[in-house]
Amino acid sequence: MQGRKANIIFFSILGSLGILGCISHYSTTTETAKSREYENSFERGKNLAFNICGQCHYDEGTQRFMGKEMKDLPGFMGKVFSTNLTHSDSFGVLEKYSDAELAYLLKTGINREGKYVPWMIRPNLADTDINDITVYFRSNDTAVLAVDKVAGKTELSFAGKMGTKIEGKPLPFKKGILPPNEKDSIAYGRYLIDNLACYHCHSKSILGLDYEKPETSKGYMAGGMKFKNKEGKIVIAANLTPDKTGIESYTHFDFRKAVQDGVRPNGSKLNYPMQKFRHLTSKQSDAIYYYLQSLEPVKNKVKRPS
Ligand code: HEC
Ligand code: HEC
Repeated sequence: MQGRKANIIFFSILGSLGILGCISHYSTTTETAKSREYENSFERGKNLAFNICGQCHYDEGTQRFMGKEMKDLPGFMGKVFSTNLTHSDSFGVLEKYSDAELAYLLKTGINREGKYVPWMIRPNLADTDINDITVYFRSNDTAVLAVDKVAGKTELSFAGKMGTKIEGKPLPFKKGILPPNEKDSIAYGRYLIDNLACYHCHSKSILGLDYEKPETSKGYMAGGMKFKNKEGKIVIAANLTPDKTGIESYTHFDFRKAVQDGVRPNGSKLNYPMQKFRHLTSKQSDAIYYYLQSLEPVKNKVKRPS
């Protein structure tokens, strides 16, 4: 059981939280606010949609936001597929969502039917950024044009449904979340680590995460969480604090190469589920880098894959 337990990783636990959540019903939003297109809303929204939502909803094959299988779920849990976010009338879930319902889902985890779906809770995502993401998904960019199918049907096994007894809870709906000052690279970097969910994987354990105050998560950014790569081998998320066992020796150029291209300074390729954040701008990568370098170094030697 111990081995299995250790295998219960990021997506699997969130998956079971989602299923447990299905048992309860929560009230939905009465808000009606609509998104508005400001100057740069589309470009900003596209960047955020690819960097945040794209991690789970963008399919490289069709190059559309049509959803995909969450592959690092351990086999015994069953299968989980993310939903289609394209303009498909019959398969695109966002076509049914009002702008206010989408904002509510992202902030609280409660979907338009009142079910708790914990995958994409982003309590600290600025209202203006949620607005821009919505503008992007409502646009006619190629990546959101209709694909009339779904990637697959989520089917959790009994073990998947009962896998953990952790009670997931929706977060309170908070309005008026302000964006960081992007000229303050440390504040901007902290914001990106939070909303791009780097800390969901690069901290000690899924159970120790604090979604509202990421920095108080256990072993924040010091790595150690276990995942499966595409071949089913265990890979461990790296220590990203400025310690010798972390990325003390990285320059900001090394960091760009690792996050934008998926290549370490020694030339080796990073494994799935670490992916290329190819839509991350150099300014964003640098902000994350300088923020990480400002953290207390934490000694935690993490095994590199052989
Ligand atoms: C960590 C992976 C992940 C990320 C990041 C993510 N999603 Fe999802 N999303 C999922 C999965 C998995 C489902 C399907 C859950 C299910 O079938 O129970 C889903 C479902 C949805 C749904 C339908 C919810 C419902 O039940 O009605 C919407 C809408 C959605 N996502 C929008 C987004 C948007 C917008 C973003 C970016 C801001 C985003 N997601 C980021 C994994 C993710
Ligand atoms: C889904 C989980 C996941 C997410 C999200 C994630 N990472 Fe990773 N990351 C990993 C894993 C696992 C590895 C180890 C891969 C390997 O060793 O091949 C890794 C490795 C890295 C490395 C390489 C360090 C080294 O020298 O070995 C860097 C840098 C990195 N991640 C930065 C980031 C940043 C920045 C973000 C957010 C923008 C992020 N990661 C989001 C799982 C994740």
